Amino acid sequence: MGTTTIQDGFVAEITSREPVTEVVEDVREALLAHAVVVLREQDLPALAQAAFTRLLGPLEPASDMRNHHPDSTDVMVVDNSGRTPIVGNQWWHSDRSFLPEPTHYTVLFGRTVPPSGTETVFADMVAACRRMPAPWRTALRGALGVHSYDRLAHLRAESHRAPVQPDYAVRFPPVRHPVVRLHEESGAAALYLSELCLTGVESERGTPVEGVSVDGLHAHATAGEFLYRHPWRPGDVVIWDNCRVMHRAGELRPGVARILHRTTTAGGPPLPAVPP
Ligand code: OGA
Ligand code: MN
Repeated sequence: MGTTTIQDGFVAEITSREPVTEVVEDVREALLAHAVVVLREQDLPALAQAAFTRLLGPLEPASDMRNHHPDSTDVMVVDNSGRTPIVGNQWWHSDRSFLPEPTHYTVLFGRTVPPSGTETVFADMVAACRRMPAPWRTALRGALGVHSYDRLAHLRAESHRAPVQPDYAVRFPPVRHPVVRLHEESGAAALYLSELCLTGVESERGTPVEGVSVDGLHAHATAGEFLYRHPWRPGDVVIWDNCRVMHRAGELRPGVARILHRTTTAGGPPLPAVPP
């Protein structure tokens, strides 16, 4: 099979250059062993991207309906140059962690990107979990993270130059997810964090967790040793498992158009794992 490992257990590239729609089984297989899968030199019309994504799991509608593609409400246009840049993407996050059942896979297609100089950065949450400070192993047993839509609601309103949607807190009340999360396909434990959404960490009883802070968790999990920086080229398709990685957009250059098409699949409720 034409799959090459870029970082062991973390990032792989499918090197066959066949259209992504022709190598769905290879993609599925690569996603079992790796958190991020890259394909190059693709041409993926919006409807084909939606159809392909549906083969990976239940397709979710675009997460911000003000930015969907003209051909499909299931494809979100991530455009730094338009009137509504997706600002939240510059914070470390896992897609839609503010939902009781967050996104499983995200597929991003590089529609219009400069030949070099733009990145999406990924952090390996399984490696970060494996190498966490020893005292956290006990402290994080059964710990829950509080994921809130607050910051995203304000960032989105700002980028749309619109008032914060008044019903957001009713539509998206804060949810609690395990801080150490089970990756169901492999049985691995992964840290489940987000600079965008995670507002607190508490024990099962709702009391503070001694010796662990939200900032400390993020600082550990985004250390250089856990990172892969994807250098975007036109026609790239990047697929990732939101249970196993956090990600964020790299530096965006004003005046340089970078347009990505994004589709996602729904996942189930995050399950807890015992810290390794
Ligand atoms: C996303 C995202 C990162 C980027 O689309 O979910 O976080 O580099 N994108 O734009
Ligand atoms: Mn994202």
